[in-house]
Amino acid sequence: MKAVAITSGKGGVGKTNVTVNLGLALADAGRRCLLLDADMGLANLDVVLGWASHRTLLDVIEQRVSLESAIARVEPRLHLLPSPSGVLKLERLGEDQRARLVEDIERLRDDYDVLLVDTGSGLTENVLFFCDWADGVVLVTEPEPTALTDGYALVKVLSQSYDVTNIALLVNQVESSTQAAQIRDRFGSVCARHLNLSLPYLGNVLSDPTLPQAVAERRPVFRADSNSPASDCFRRIAARFDEALTCDPAQLRDRRYWTARRREQLQRKISLDPML
Ligand SMILES: Nc1ncnc2c1ncn2[C@@H]1O[C@H](COP(=O)(O)OP(=O)(O)O)[C@@H](O)[C@H]1O
Ligand SMILES: [Mg+2]
Repeated sequence: MKAVAITSGKGGVGKTNVTVNLGLALADAGRRCLLLDADMGLANLDVVLGWASHRTLLDVIEQRVSLESAIARVEPRLHLLPSPSGVLKLERLGEDQRARLVEDIERLRDDYDVLLVDTGSGLTENVLFFCDWADGVVLVTEPEPTALTDGYALVKVLSQSYDVTNIALLVNQVESSTQAAQIRDRFGSVCARHLNLSLPYLGNVLSDPTLPQAVAERRPVFRADSNSPASDCFRRIAARFDEALTCDPAQLRDRRYWTARRREQLQRKISLDPML
């Protein structure tokens, strides 16, 4: 299983729709996909999927049900781990609760080919944790300068403070692929110059009125109209998925080792220094 976090600096740029429709496009290409709603607090993957969930991650975290029994089999190759919305304690999960959750998820590695994690946005603990844990990250942005500067801020923190460098760029809501290519080049050159980081390009999704129409009907656009411009884009992105997000197992092991070491050192420092 390849675990990929779908994230953004700014909210409302299209992460949830990317998670759902990319998941469906990958499922149609024969991959077994699990979607995890980690936008804890403001979860809505189930809404975009048009799925009413009874059991959620909250039941799993509070140990009422097993992780396996909270998985909704939405389609044969598309499963969902939903979260409830408006639950503040989910937004404020402790480090140990998050660690237990991903340990549980690690047990599913052989059951799925791809795990897509909708992380929510911003520099929150939850977002940084899931991006750090995943094998790769998709940074979703729109052409607006605010989305681009917030996206850059997140890439900077991920790469410099967490050593997360396997980040691919997806530009949503563009008028043309030419506009997307300009944004890719500009964003890419800023990351190369200031962070010494090259971002693979996953692709773009055109701005398409079919998408919000489908959201209003609580259907994913990829199922509501598989020939819409947005659906074509998702198919193209699914075809590039493995190439843009290569996950070298040796490199991952190495990075996980150093991340664990850094956490241990930090913990020791905290327990020795009462001021921290
Ligand atoms: N490619 C697109 N074309 C048109 N509208 C879009 C597109 N992507 C997103 N939107 C609009 O933006 C809204 C927010 O998208 P969403 O996936 O919920 O963002 P996020 O999860 O990042 O907050 C959608 O409900 C839709 O109205
Ligand atoms: Mg969302």
